[in-house]
Amino acid sequence: MSYTPEMRELIKKVEETRDQRIGNYFPRMTPEEREEVLNNNHPDYKQDQFRDAKIGPNKGDKFPHELCDLIEAYPSIDWNQFTTDQIDYDVDVLVIGGGGAGASASLLAHEAGADVLMATKLRFGDANTVMAQGGIQAADKSNDSPSTHYLDVIGGGHYYNVPELVRALVSDAPDVISWLEDLGVMFDKDDEGTMQTKHGGGTSRKRMHSARDYTGAEIMRVLRDEVHCRDINVVEFSPAVELLLDKQGRASGAILYNMETKEYQVVKAKTVIITTGGLGRLHTQNFPTSNHYGATADGLIMAYRAGADLAFMDTVQYHPTGASYPEQIEGFLITEKVRGLGATPLNIDGEQFVYHLETRDVEASAIIRECAKGKGITTPSGMQGVWLDSPMIEQIHGEGTIEKELPAMVRQFARFGVDITKEPILVYPTLHYQNGGILINDRGESSVENLYVAGEASGGVHGRNRLMGNSLLDILVLGRRAGKNAASRAKEIDNTNAELNLEHVKNYVNELENEGIEQLRTSPILIPDYTQKSTDQQ
Ligand code: FUM
Repeated sequence: MSYTPEMRELIKKVEETRDQRIGNYFPRMTPEEREEVLNNNHPDYKQDQFRDAKIGPNKGDKFPHELCDLIEAYPSIDWNQFTTDQIDYDVDVLVIGGGGAGASASLLAHEAGADVLMATKLRFGDANTVMAQGGIQAADKSNDSPSTHYLDVIGGGHYYNVPELVRALVSDAPDVISWLEDLGVMFDKDDEGTMQTKHGGGTSRKRMHSARDYTGAEIMRVLRDEVHCRDINVVEFSPAVELLLDKQGRASGAILYNMETKEYQVVKAKTVIITTGGLGRLHTQNFPTSNHYGATADGLIMAYRAGADLAFMDTVQYHPTGASYPEQIEGFLITEKVRGLGATPLNIDGEQFVYHLETRDVEASAIIRECAKGKGITTPSGMQGVWLDSPMIEQIHGEGTIEKELPAMVRQFARFGVDITKEPILVYPTLHYQNGGILINDRGESSVENLYVAGEASGGVHGRNRLMGNSLLDILVLGRRAGKNAASRAKEIDNTNAELNLEHVKNYVNELENEGIEQLRTSPILIPDYTQKSTDQQ
């Protein structure tokens, strides 16, 4: 589905302004302008899209309706009848989730001598990690430092970030890059073998390390291989549906649901690590998403029922550039690396309206505002979008740059007859990331004893807005820390006589009933339902 004749006409306006934009930077916004564009356009600022949680540790806190619906849903298992008499797996460390955070946590826990079980909802590696394109940040060049990286992170997060988590993130970053290289990740390098680094939105130094435009897939390739090589036990298609606690309220295992046999299995564990990712597939405010199908907030729901505190759940990241055409790939991520290489966003008249590397929340808000002003391009199916002028990359860096730097993107669009080396891409913000999650400390510990969390399921490190490339970093920094610390804690625990139970689920149900919340839905939902508009989404 190549561009329509009407769209091709509009592209001529983009071409007309191209030369004049190259080398002439559009001015960055002042702090006041940023504040203004966020307040009036960013989805996080639409008060009617949120409500106060009625129950649980964060009762009274503002959550998106879509998350509140799941928090205020009933358990999917018949908790009253469920017994833990039969234990199917008895391990030191249970890792729930099979993306980059789960893999790195498993590796470090295993290295520390723990018997590890990883349980994943889909296949091992089906996670947002493999969909991360642009890169991973680390201050490992001589003109940069972890403290400069620190300042960028907390500036991007609007100074709400938990400082000890940011310190962990930026201090471990250079080691994480070396670790990945040692394991075999092939980062982009120049002819002398020096690591290439680029800018992302909100970075004051070039510190984005990449593997073309499939950085996450390359990292996951290596981590998955390593987990298999070390014979770590992985069970696939077996999402956790509820945590198990002991009589003292400490995390002690989980109930898995085997999606193939439709049977439940009980895992007993000394420590548990949640690495289940985020909530993209809840489609907050009806946004399309760049996320994989399993991103349905399962970890948040289970941990919340077990008593874990959540943080910053009223802030969701809308990546400025999701595909808005062709409609088959609506919401698909157009990596920030495209803007990092110089491509600028343009309205229907071919005019630039925002500096191309504002932080994500500001850039997304400016695009939403431009379309609301009637300056967007309407697709044949009624979607809105603005142009992202990819061909200018070739003019800035030389012919062949796009094919070299963005090979996956070139192929993705070629399937639909769009040549991004010659034609701009039509984009609109897409739901990309949950900025908050289960609150952790710099050891990866949640507020529930023996329950660790890492990756997108965790909250605090990014404050109210994450910068590009700090997610691939955080899954590894905090995944490794959680794995190491969970293994060392497991050594101190004798759980021979632990009585695993679902008392917390019973208490949660009591709370729901006391609040008069009807049994309209159950959670976790595991897989989004696109077959019909379910009551959950109405
Ligand atoms: O734009 C991107 O490549 C996304 C990266 C990220 O979310 O960190």
